Amino acid sequence: MRIGILGAGNVGSALGRLWSAKGHQVVFGKRGASNAEATAAAEVVVLSVPWPAAEEAVRSAGALAGKVLIDCTNPLSPDLKGLTVGLTTSAGEQVAAWAPSAKVVKAFNTIGAVNFGNARFGDQLADGYYCGDDAGAKSMAKQLIEDAGMTPVDVGPLRNARLLEPLAMLWIDLAVNQKQGANHAFKLLRR
Ligand SMILES: NC(=O)c1ccc[n+]([C@@H]2O[C@H](COP(=O)([O-])OP(=O)(O)OC[C@H]3O[C@@H](n4cnc5c(N)ncnc54)[C@H](OP(=O)(O)O)[C@@H]3O)[C@@H](O)[C@H]2O)c1
Repeated sequence: MRIGILGAGNVGSALGRLWSAKGHQVVFGKRGASNAEATAAAEVVVLSVPWPAAEEAVRSAGALAGKVLIDCTNPLSPDLKGLTVGLTTSAGEQVAAWAPSAKVVKAFNTIGAVNFGNARFGDQLADGYYCGDDAGAKSMAKQLIEDAGMTPVDVGPLRNARLLEPLAMLWIDLAVNQKQGANHAFKLLRR
């Protein structure tokens, strides 16, 4: 896949490295004009900027019509103790409102980036939860979650980003506020 990544920090650089190793073509955007250059030829655009920068990054990304837009953000409060968006909407839905003709999938937000490519816990592989409203976009996101070394788990429509973002907050609270570090991940058990 041709992938344009907006935000080359912990999340974007780790995913870009893993996807490049799997043979995907990855271009990184930086603030301003290069965001549009990164997305021009991309079929998948990845939003991996801090939440306060998200609207500007989406709006500077040029025409996103028909592209898959994977939103990895979490709308964190500055003290990392809560979310600034939630319950009746989500960052994922807000991103979709800024890019109404893109096919938005929420993914990669419920596990710390240090675990990307290092998501095996004993004999279990961490889950990579994703949600969205477009089946084709979700199938591309599913492949990219596998290519980043996690078990993809479809959790439904984009509105379920309202559930994934608080789940991410739990991961962060354990890691930061409860000082447990980054060596934990979520796994959905079924029978
Ligand atoms: N860290 C994690 O473990 C983790 C896991 C899952 C999800 N998330 C979420 O993923 C997002 C990114 O997290 P992160 O830890 O990767 O952040 P980060 O390390 O701070 O990196 C953010 C990157 O975005 C860039 N950026 C800022 N504004 C931009 C813009 N307008 N256009 C293009 N690039 C821009 C920054 O560039 P500059 O250096 O120039 O500012 C930086 O390279 C956040 O919303 C976070 O909540 C994080």
